[in-house]
Amino acid sequence: MVEFETALREDIKTFLSEVPCHPLLVRLAWHDAGTYNHEDKTGGANASIRFEPEILHGANAGLKKAVDFLEPFHAKYPAVSYADLYQLASVVAIEAAGGPVIPFKFGRIDSEACTNDGRLPDATKRMPHLRDVFYRMGLSDKDIVVLSGAHCLGAAHKDRSGFVGAWTTKPLVFDNEYYKNVINGDTKGLLLLDSDKALCDEPELEKLVTTYAEDEGAFFADYIESHIKLSELGFPA
Ligand code: HEM
Repeated sequence: MVEFETALREDIKTFLSEVPCHPLLVRLAWHDAGTYNHEDKTGGANASIRFEPEILHGANAGLKKAVDFLEPFHAKYPAVSYADLYQLASVVAIEAAGGPVIPFKFGRIDSEACTNDGRLPDATKRMPHLRDVFYRMGLSDKDIVVLSGAHCLGAAHKDRSGFVGAWTTKPLVFDNEYYKNVINGDTKGLLLLDSDKALCDEPELEKLVTTYAEDEGAFFADYIESHIKLSELGFPA
């Protein structure tokens, strides 16, 4: 543990109690890490998202706000890398929203090397697109299902992605409702993107959706593992 970790976590928690932007911080961390290419080792959790042109990529619409929210924390704790700060803010947000406690390692290195546009998944596509994107990161089918569960938090916005609405009835609570809605299909006014529906396209993936819909403990346990993998993409070994 680095010496400022406790104080930094407390400051982020206090901020979240004043500005409940948990979902936005989780999305920032995912979009920073999710550019990773495990073959050429480019992209990943390196905070390149804070620079143009990456922050201006269509998929990152709205995330400049999250970058700006976290800037004062970097000013107060200059020893933390932006890459660690973005990932830490996400795990603190998940915990503060009632989700699992995710073990955290410091050591990510900041980079100015923005990746090209088009590395993040397209919400209008199903398989094989989702697999292509997650496999490129070095992640698995199980990771696709587990990490999609982060859509229990937050909402889509007309002025960002063009989609509108929340996936669950309690978008500031991290729980397994998302999977119940994916299985039920008819979500009565709640959002389901094609990429969410795609989880039921393959029997093995659908089985996991059912497991997580029925057993929140199983979801949390697997979420911890997959989230660590995501948050450490490109992490120096
Ligand atoms: C599987 C492929 C995925 C696709 C296609 C996708 C797509 C989207 C889209 C279109 C939005 C709406 C953005 C907006 O209009 O504000 C969104 C929001 C969100 N996504 Fe995903 N996403 C995916 C996976 C993930 C993963 C892996 C995570 C985290 C581990 C995640 C976390 C979030 C969160 C928390 C929000 C809500 C943000 C807010 O309320 O401001 N998503 N996603």
